[in-house]
Amino acid sequence: MDFIDKNLQSYVESHSDSETELLEEINRYTNLNVINPRMLSGHLQGRILSFISRMINPKTILEIGTYTGYSAICLLEGLKKKQGKIITIDKNDEISEKVKFFFKKSKSFHKINYLIGDAVTIISKLKETFDLVFIDADKENYSKYFDLVFPKLSKGGFIIVDNVLWSGKILNEKKDKLTKIIDNFNKKISRDNRIRKVILPVRDGITLIQKK
Ligand SMILES: C[S@@+](CC[C@H](N)C(=O)[O-])C[C@H]1O[C@@H](n2cnc3c(N)ncnc32)[C@H](O)[C@@H]1O
Repeated sequence: MDFIDKNLQSYVESHSDSETELLEEINRYTNLNVINPRMLSGHLQGRILSFISRMINPKTILEIGTYTGYSAICLLEGLKKKQGKIITIDKNDEISEKVKFFFKKSKSFHKINYLIGDAVTIISKLKETFDLVFIDADKENYSKYFDLVFPKLSKGGFIIVDNVLWSGKILNEKKDKLTKIIDNFNKKISRDNRIRKVILPVRDGITLIQKK
């Protein structure tokens, strides 16, 4: 569920920055050819990710859940000009050739480290410290991703978490398994005193977290 009326959404998008040609291409391709195109961040969320990344101007970004590469390209826009790098992880190798094709079209292609495999296994082995992390993969592992990533987050570093309102199901009295998992994750984040946090009711709900 989007939390904003369709007409208002169109108004917001038409009065915000446009998608780049490459992002338009990924968006179109995903909607026509890939299963579950709703998973793609899309125009408005993509511009928000880009804007946040530009404000932080991170040296290192970690993305968990590449999908077709849309959000990685958005986050890349804010990366430090010199020596910046983004690591993006996805376990789905079926679309990886197409994702690489899109990444190669970006002028910052050399800054992208696209890793294919299970994120829990890969993150455990990463040695880097990250200034910005985007968690957007399997909801069952959100809590684990947060715990794994937290020690690797620089002081004052940020985590963005997608889908935290789960199409509004988070308010249901009787919650299904996944909704409970997300609700428990939200509760855990809200109680953690080591971080600042705010939920933005944008698209499917985005939590912004900052390590104190
Ligand atoms: C919601 S999509 C990501 C959307 C993308 N960030 C965007 O905004 O365009 C979630 C992705 O997480 C990947 N994924 C799910 N479980 C994973 C895991 N355990 N390890 C790595 N990737 C995983 C899926 O293959 C899928 O491509």
